Amino acid sequence: MTSSFKRPDGRKVDELREFEAKVGIVPNADGSAMYRSGETIAIAAVYGPKKMHPQHSQNPEKGTLRCTYNMNSFSVSERIRPGPSRRSTEISKITEWALEPVLMLDKFQNMVVDVHINIIQADAGTRCAGINAAAMALAHAGIPMKDMVSSVSVGKLDKTIVVDLSKEEEDYEEGEGPTDIPISMTHSGDITHFQLDGKIDSKQLMEAVELAKKSCEQIYEVQKKALKDSIDLTGGED
Ligand code: CDP
Repeated sequence: MTSSFKRPDGRKVDELREFEAKVGIVPNADGSAMYRSGETIAIAAVYGPKKMHPQHSQNPEKGTLRCTYNMNSFSVSERIRPGPSRRSTEISKITEWALEPVLMLDKFQNMVVDVHINIIQADAGTRCAGINAAAMALAHAGIPMKDMVSSVSVGKLDKTIVVDLSKEEEDYEEGEGPTDIPISMTHSGDITHFQLDGKIDSKQLMEAVELAKKSCEQIYEVQKKALKDSIDLTGGED
């Protein structure tokens, strides 16, 4: 990939922000994880499966995944109003859609698996960081899964395709303005979530999806390592 475009933080176009993942950080939860990309930090905690209440919300065919995304008031420099918003409701739904295809919920009829995602610091890409943390937390909770899900935002800045946009890049207004494409996919390459905000032609869209695939590979390796590290292989013996 060649480009004369300079990213504000000096990253290469296909370079993720410094990122890390940890599993098992909320002791009272059935499963939990943290995912950080640059200045964006997401924490996910899983509770359940447990009986769904109220009863009329129960699904007798399979368990229900219920995600709640919340950006904390102090996660951005200009304090945001606490509580649900249209944006948080949308992201909660999208997170459910991104994760549901890999979950095997048929054994959990009439039950619910609750995933609470908290963004404690935000610098763009929070929905993707939340999905990465939630996927690990679900695996940590022992919810049967067919595959892992990894998520990243790709975009177009001044005709150049880049990965993992920072807030400064999302606000870049040169040329046609920024295009932001959050994508989530399984390790086997199935796309489970795709959004597009802005304009892009089909050729560059293919390029963006390829870049997302390559980046999700890197994220998957870090998720897998965090999950492995959370397992006590010594069986509690010295
Ligand atoms: O976070 P994500 O990129 O998934 O979603 P967004 O709605 O495109 O928001 C981009 C960024 O704008 C967030 O990550 C925050 O850094 C910032 N933001 C904010 O400062 N105040 C809000 N009420 C919403 C977003």
